[in-house]
Amino acid sequence: MARRPIIAGNWKMNLDHLEAIGLVQRLVYHLEPRDYEATEIVVVPPFTSLRSIQTLIQGDRLDIGLGAQQCSEEESGAFTGEVSPAMLSRLDVGYVLCGHSERRTLFGETDELVNRKVRAVFAHGMLPILCVGESAEQRDAGEAEAIVTGQVLACLEEVSAEQAASMVIAYEPVWAIGTGRTATSGDADGMCATVRSVVAGRYEQSVADRLRVQYGGSVKPGNAAELLRQPDIDGALVGGASLDADDFAVICRYHRTR
Ligand code: 13P
Repeated sequence: MARRPIIAGNWKMNLDHLEAIGLVQRLVYHLEPRDYEATEIVVVPPFTSLRSIQTLIQGDRLDIGLGAQQCSEEESGAFTGEVSPAMLSRLDVGYVLCGHSERRTLFGETDELVNRKVRAVFAHGMLPILCVGESAEQRDAGEAEAIVTGQVLACLEEVSAEQAASMVIAYEPVWAIGTGRTATSGDADGMCATVRSVVAGRYEQSVADRLRVQYGGSVKPGNAAELLRQPDIDGALVGGASLDADDFAVICRYHRTR
């Protein structure tokens, strides 16, 4: 079964809501129906822009998905500063990043916490984009596969086979994020294949066959097509290049160069 590639732009802590609207308007100007047919395209703005982008998507009937960069694992209550999954789902958010390496390293998110967030996202009808990846030190120590395998298994605790098949896992080696250093397409594909085989072992092959595995880490217009051509890479999680409408559009049109 062919998996539909998914390309998501993680804007991180960039752009106010007016800039966000401008970026999406410029992006869709560059895209055609065949691009949306070939690829699922998602933007992942900061919380403050979600409402504006939801309104733009609905008003102009854009074929663009909406994602959030993280959410609380709690339902509601005295958690000052947090945003609940229910609030996101009311804004027609379809995807939530869980366990991005910046959340893990800068905000102390553990696998156990990420797993709770993954389950909270599912509980509210959205799909997690679970981020995993090794650091430079872990890679140099030959531990990359073990680290990624451990992250995937821990974050899938109490996740059903049907849920796992529907979600997205993003392999983002920490040393490739924002550095301009990309994994070779072969290395990236190999680790995405490892992620898929871990999921096959945890559930069954048919679950792994449906799972979409993205690569993330310095994906740019110049390397996207080569990365996305790999058999086990089903999409990209794009940081810096998703802040430039022209660059992100080139990445979203990668299929035209196949
Ligand atoms: P860059 O594309 O800027 O390396 O960021 C990758 C990333 O962290 C996407 O989530």
